[in-house]
Amino acid sequence: MQLPTVIVNFKTYESATGDNALELAKVHDKVARETGISFAICVQATDLYRITQEVSIPVFAQHVDPITYGSHTGSILPEVVKQAGAYGTLLNHAEHQLEFDVIASSIARAKDVGLTTCVCANTPEVAAKIAEFNPDFIAVEPPELIGGDISISSAKPEVVTKAVSLVGDIKLLVGAGVKNSQDTKKAIQLGASGVLLASGVTKANNPYEILTDLAKGLM
Ligand code: G3P
Repeated sequence: MQLPTVIVNFKTYESATGDNALELAKVHDKVARETGISFAICVQATDLYRITQEVSIPVFAQHVDPITYGSHTGSILPEVVKQAGAYGTLLNHAEHQLEFDVIASSIARAKDVGLTTCVCANTPEVAAKIAEFNPDFIAVEPPELIGGDISISSAKPEVVTKAVSLVGDIKLLVGAGVKNSQDTKKAIQLGASGVLLASGVTKANNPYEILTDLAKGLM
């Protein structure tokens, strides 16, 4: 994946689910083409297949389970996420937290099938622990800033710089409250390789304008 990057997590917002998810994915694809900036999206498992058929940007699952083929009703099998065209998977989001042993086995299973991993951490110290499992990306998001209007880079720049220093060679993304080009620019200045955001796009009246602005901070 080209860096820096902007990953937009569609979560389960109505504006980013089902038919709306496909439309929103196409807007990301268009802005990526127009700006030359790297965008990726993170969608519900049930939306993966049809979105990957229609866009060129990397598409991530929001979660996979560390299972193999067999009797695991209701679980998300890494193999089928890969077959659905996913580029990677998010793991351990603040809204879907996992124990460290489960994070380690989920990263291993994702790697088995060729999925890029982006693992969330709520503090720099947790990021450092997760770095031991060698994911492709770690995304630091202070939970209290998620869904708010003040970005991590403005509210807690020290969290970004500390996390950058603790994760070694692993690419660090930052998230929570990211809304505009100032936020993306500042994240990169602090040493991050990109941002992870949701509501700034999923709640926007005009996602195209917001995405284009986010890209400007990375040009
Ligand atoms: O996964 C990204 C997310 O948790 C940040 O959410 O709404 O603050 O951009 P938001």
